[in-house]
Amino acid sequence: MDYKRYIAERLNVEGMRVEELSEAIILPPNTEMGDYALPCFKFAKTFRKSPVLIAQGLKETYPLDDVIGSVEAVNGYLNFKVNRRGLAKATLEEIEREGDLYGSSNEGNGKTICIDYSSVNIAKPFHIGHLSTTVIGGALYRAYRFFGYHAVGINHLGDYGTQFGKLIAAFKHWGNKEQVEKGGIRAINDLYIRFHKEAETHPELEDEARGYFKFIEEGDPECNQIFEWFKEITMRYVDEIYQMLDIRFDSYAGERFYTDKMEPVVAELKEKGLLVESQGAQIVNLDAYNMPPCIILRSDGASLYATRDMAAAIYRKKTYDFTKCLYVVAYQQNLHFKQFFKVLELMGKEWAKDLVHVAYGMVSLEEGAMSTRKGNMVFLEDVIHRCIEKAQKVIEEKNSSLENKEEVAKIVGTGAVIFSALYNNKIKDIVFSYDKVLSFEGETSVYVQYTCARANSVLQKAGELPKNYEIPELSLEEFELVKALSSFRQAISDCLEKYEPCYIARFAVDVAQKFNKFYFDYKILSETGDTRAFRLALTKATLQVLKNAFALLGIGIPEKM
Ligand code: ARG
Repeated sequence: MDYKRYIAERLNVEGMRVEELSEAIILPPNTEMGDYALPCFKFAKTFRKSPVLIAQGLKETYPLDDVIGSVEAVNGYLNFKVNRRGLAKATLEEIEREGDLYGSSNEGNGKTICIDYSSVNIAKPFHIGHLSTTVIGGALYRAYRFFGYHAVGINHLGDYGTQFGKLIAAFKHWGNKEQVEKGGIRAINDLYIRFHKEAETHPELEDEARGYFKFIEEGDPECNQIFEWFKEITMRYVDEIYQMLDIRFDSYAGERFYTDKMEPVVAELKEKGLLVESQGAQIVNLDAYNMPPCIILRSDGASLYATRDMAAAIYRKKTYDFTKCLYVVAYQQNLHFKQFFKVLELMGKEWAKDLVHVAYGMVSLEEGAMSTRKGNMVFLEDVIHRCIEKAQKVIEEKNSSLENKEEVAKIVGTGAVIFSALYNNKIKDIVFSYDKVLSFEGETSVYVQYTCARANSVLQKAGELPKNYEIPELSLEEFELVKALSSFRQAISDCLEKYEPCYIARFAVDVAQKFNKFYFDYKILSETGDTRAFRLALTKATLQVLKNAFALLGIGIPEKM
């Protein structure tokens, strides 16, 4: 239920639309004052009255009912108190009725959102830096679908570039088939590292690599075969990670896919007079926008990352007719996105305004940074496995008689890794710490999962839940919990508006904290009558909502822990 709108519809402010009023309503910092408030200061000019008088006038005409139990005018604010029992009844009923769909909406019906995320590079390992794009993109993908959008998940594979020439050179010099088949991505990565090391003393290797890359481009069968084989190995490897993280895509059209789609873009740029020559290269000058030029073709005629991205954006618009196209990519690429978005705008693509770079910060491990070339890189799957192992140890300590320990450790360990990348504002750099993400206390997925196990245990002991009961007067703690549960849809809506899954992650922690407060301060099972029935229903509803929230993040909830 949208309380702000509900109140707005019943307020009688001349000349103001319900939407405007609804947006003006705020959540007061402390519930003692009210659950919702309308600051009347900005109406003073229009009505030529003091905010205090306006608030008083509005109070007189506001119709109280089962939903809004009281309204007060205080210092220019109109403070509304929700009818606690009414809210509890409506919220619990809605959660019960909608179950796994509670919080969903159809506001996105008929709209398509393209989400470019994860976008791995072929022949390169998945390191912890790819975690954020993958899980943020995945969460947005699910949240959009939950809101009725047609979401298209795109893995814009990095399958184009001179590094493939390097790999082929390295493979021919030092590699062999068995070793790569057996060692998979790690063996390929070793070849890459070896290439860079050898090239330091044998710079001629670079030329050789360029030659092989050209061969790939020209369709040389042997080079293409090796490339395709590396690609297959990479895809097999990343698919395993995607499965662990519950990630899926609708398209794997990568950079190479656009090889034959760039020509028309270059032609159009030329035709529109945007292309200029600079030191042999073809560029679009962006001086007027305080940006360095966007290079479209290098002096040897080769296309660039930006050229392929422009072709990709045009292709996506034509193919999916998106309402928005998101790029979940690290902030290091800010300039790249700003540049090619601008060039598309200059080409007259009015939809360039619908392209959004969803930037996020760096993830590093406590131990320090990493780089592919030097080889001191941290593989994501190692981090996940280590988390699972550690989770298993903790479970062993805390609850050694748990039946499916391994299964639970998997859910808890993987969840901790995912949650660590979703809990903070995405733009912040984060340092990953095993102990922190696996802590039972604090703002972690484990804390939420443990809360759910607690709720599950109460419900199991309770047996069949009573159906017909009257909702009793609510305590503040119960009311706070109900209110939190009722705000789930708003949390998802905030997540989509700001492209920030942390709204959902924080929501879950907040609900868990409020539930625990309720759980420790009040008796549930040993109560009787309506109170027992209500508290059990509240426990069940909490569990359902936490499940739904975590499902959007791609994290499971074990029944017992
Ligand atoms: N593969 C690129 C990288 O790892 C990310 C691609 C992002 N998507 C895009 N359309 N540019 O840096």
